[in-house]
Amino acid sequence: MAEFRLPKNSRVQKGKAHPAQEGANLKTVKIYRYDPETGENPRYDTYEIDLDKCGPMVLDAIIKIKNEIDPTLTFRRSCREGICGSCAMNMDGKNGLACTSAIEDYKGTLTIHPLPHMEVVKDLVGDFTHFYAQYASIQPWLKSESPEPSGKEREQAPEDRAKLDGLYECILCACCSTSCPSYWWNSDRFLGPAILLQAYRWIADSRDEATGERLDQLEDPYRLYRCHTIMNCANACPKGLNPAKAIAETKKLIAERAA
Ligand code: SF4
Ligand code: SF4
Ligand code: FES
Repeated sequence: MAEFRLPKNSRVQKGKAHPAQEGANLKTVKIYRYDPETGENPRYDTYEIDLDKCGPMVLDAIIKIKNEIDPTLTFRRSCREGICGSCAMNMDGKNGLACTSAIEDYKGTLTIHPLPHMEVVKDLVGDFTHFYAQYASIQPWLKSESPEPSGKEREQAPEDRAKLDGLYECILCACCSTSCPSYWWNSDRFLGPAILLQAYRWIADSRDEATGERLDQLEDPYRLYRCHTIMNCANACPKGLNPAKAIAETKKLIAERAA
């Protein structure tokens, strides 16, 4: 499990407790709170919820807390299906999606933080500005000089399409990048596992004709080679993907073309 690192702007102070009625099937949830507009240091608030009146997932618990106990609690969510990636957070020290993480898998008090080592906008909401800028930098779209076949899509053989398995499923949740020690220390220049997996998704696409240009852009001591194969990324990915493998494949292609 990745060591948990507090968000960059953190010095946590004592927070509020919200006890529930005795006798219920109680679960204590401790949540990192930070509101830059107050000028106060971050704190932890603790809440008790009745599991008999709550859905099974961590996201259900957070929504219940916001609806019934504390409307100021701030977090992102959308699909509730593990598809949008917006509910990514750190639960008991491990990054994951709150909507696909069962409360019963966390014993004792459940402690929730925003994704590690990102600037915090508010409470559980991290600032993805830099992450998205890095994503844009790899030009994540099909690049081709060949004219489109008229009246139909660009075709791809089944075996070429299969090369995108394990890549196209990425939902850009950033669980991997924010669990990568190299990304913690060098995120200004290292692209990190999520963006490098996305870069390889286009390199591996048989319809894309910009492979050389894409490899040129990645061949840099920081952008690609700050990955030291620590493998936290594969452990963290809630979709079961392996960014480290995509990074290794990219390094191999660069080495092969130099040979
Ligand atoms: S394998 Fe590379 S990208 Fe993945 S966590 Fe380790 S250093 Fe980061
Ligand atoms: S590789 Fe996995 S953990 Fe990383 S951004 Fe994509 S879905 Fe999220
Ligand atoms: S709410 Fe969309 S992935 Fe969790």
